[in-house]
Amino acid sequence: MAELDAIYRDVFEADPTLKADAEANRDIIERILELKDRKNVLILGHNYMHPLIYNLSEEDARGDSLALSRYAAKSDKPIILFDGVMFMGETAKILSPNKKVLIADKSAGCSLADPVRKDDVLKLKAMYPGVPVVTYVNSYADVKAESDICCTSANAVEVVLSLKSKRVIFLPDSFMGENIQQELAGMKKDIEIIYPGKKNALNRGICEVHERFTVEDLKLIREQYGIPKGHPKRAILAHWECRPEVLHEADFHGSTSQMSKYILEKRPEMVFLATECEMAANLAAEFPQTEFVRQCNVYCRHMRKITLNGILSALETEDPEKHEIFVDEEVRLKALKPIQRMLGISK
Ligand code: 13P
Ligand code: SF4
Repeated sequence: MAELDAIYRDVFEADPTLKADAEANRDIIERILELKDRKNVLILGHNYMHPLIYNLSEEDARGDSLALSRYAAKSDKPIILFDGVMFMGETAKILSPNKKVLIADKSAGCSLADPVRKDDVLKLKAMYPGVPVVTYVNSYADVKAESDICCTSANAVEVVLSLKSKRVIFLPDSFMGENIQQELAGMKKDIEIIYPGKKNALNRGICEVHERFTVEDLKLIREQYGIPKGHPKRAILAHWECRPEVLHEADFHGSTSQMSKYILEKRPEMVFLATECEMAANLAAEFPQTEFVRQCNVYCRHMRKITLNGILSALETEDPEKHEIFVDEEVRLKALKPIQRMLGISK
């Protein structure tokens, strides 16, 4: 148990019930760690992974989707195992074509990315000729390949402003498109954001996890836990993918990495995170001085497909079709451009 204790020390302190879980899975965890070392694999852990999975990654190999892809590109390890969903692994492959990129379950999709594909971008481009297309990294390679520039939830407004255009197409996230529009209005910027579902009949990309938070939920949390609006040490943080009215009710909104930065810098005594529940579980282990309101049952069913058994299978299998991510080279080269353009303006 010595090694498990070393890996999960902070996790067990934040949630002692996970000790039994780790013990029950000890054989699998030990085998994963052995294969990780023997095959020289970089294991990347997204913020929404279960703590027992998240902590299989080194500290600097955990975080948000784009930071992880950047890290993969810089690493000299020949094999990357991405503990996240498919579009994230695909982004890593686009940035690291010579590395083998693996995922525990290739069917791990995303309700936001799945309904908006290449044809939808082409339709919007035909409706608004010449209008630049900004694509959120939560999208597949075929969509990125038809775009002018990518963005993340940490730099979306910065990317839109960089285009100096009066109109911008934003996809696939409809709530985020609306949220960016409102943020720009607050900055007195006269830019029209066109997104799926706005004056068009295209499929709306919506995160089925963040969609579930309502203003009523947030008000209830404020009342129950004593988190008044604007309190300097007690706050509700919401992800950009939430509904616009939820962002208004929250004290702060940002990407997963910005929420984590908020806690690092402000050291609040209590927070509620309007985002996937595992994020609070992981941050609770990192910031023991902050109390995280854990009244949460909002899990991403796609992220949950990444299991310890699936990870072990990805490290053991010799069948490339089962776990390896491939991107057509022509599409990859086209998709790389908007990602690189974003990286050029937002370091
Ligand atoms: P990040 O871009 O912050 O990693 O978030 C990805 C995601 O799936 C949010 O729901
Ligand atoms: Fe997609 Fe939402 Fe799950 Fe993130 S949390 S992977 S946006 S469905």
